[in-house]
Amino acid sequence: MTPRRITPADARQLAVLHASAFERPWDEAAFEALLVTFNVFGLMLDGQGFILCRAVADEAEILTLAVAPLVRRNGVGRALVEAAAQTAHARGADSLFLEVASDNVAALGLYAGAAFEPAGLRKAYYASGADAVVMRRTLNTRA
Ligand SMILES: CC(C)(COP(=O)(O)OP(=O)(O)OC[C@H]1O[C@@H](n2cnc3c(N)ncnc32)[C@H](O)[C@@H]1OP(=O)(O)O)[C@@H](O)C(=O)NCCC(=O)NCCS
Repeated sequence: MTPRRITPADARQLAVLHASAFERPWDEAAFEALLVTFNVFGLMLDGQGFILCRAVADEAEILTLAVAPLVRRNGVGRALVEAAAQTAHARGADSLFLEVASDNVAALGLYAGAAFEPAGLRKAYYASGADAVVMRRTLNTRA
């Protein structure tokens, strides 16, 4: 399971995958804009899922991660997170951050198993009223 690098030509597929995973999907134009931003990079497994990240100096952050419902619990999310961590490290980042809703059991389980640790809490951060848990992984070690 080796994710490939995302290019701007993938914007449509990303929008479709994102809509299958989130109640408030990002459209194709939003992905096109992100994918031409110099410090944004992404990895995907075609038809299954993708991860999009931004790198700033020695820190990187996960902007979004989506796996199609029909292929969940097959290790796709884990493979995407590991590939993103390796890519971020190769680009010079020594930490990888993310925000996840405190009621997102699947994502919290994935990140905890991938060596992320809680690094902060943003109360009532999401429209649903859920808190955002900020998590961080040090990139000089592997999960
Ligand atoms: C979160 C998400 C990306 C996980 O993708 P996935 O491909 O199903 O994850 P994996 O199969 O790699 O699972 C890795 C681990 O995460 C945990 N996990 C995944 N789904 C879980 C669930 N529904 N309940 C509890 N733990 C879960 C488990 O520890 C799992 O390991 P295991 O299967 O060996 O027990 C996927 O559910 C998704 O796209 N959700 C909607 C969008 C989303 O929430 N994105 C993240 C926003 S921060």
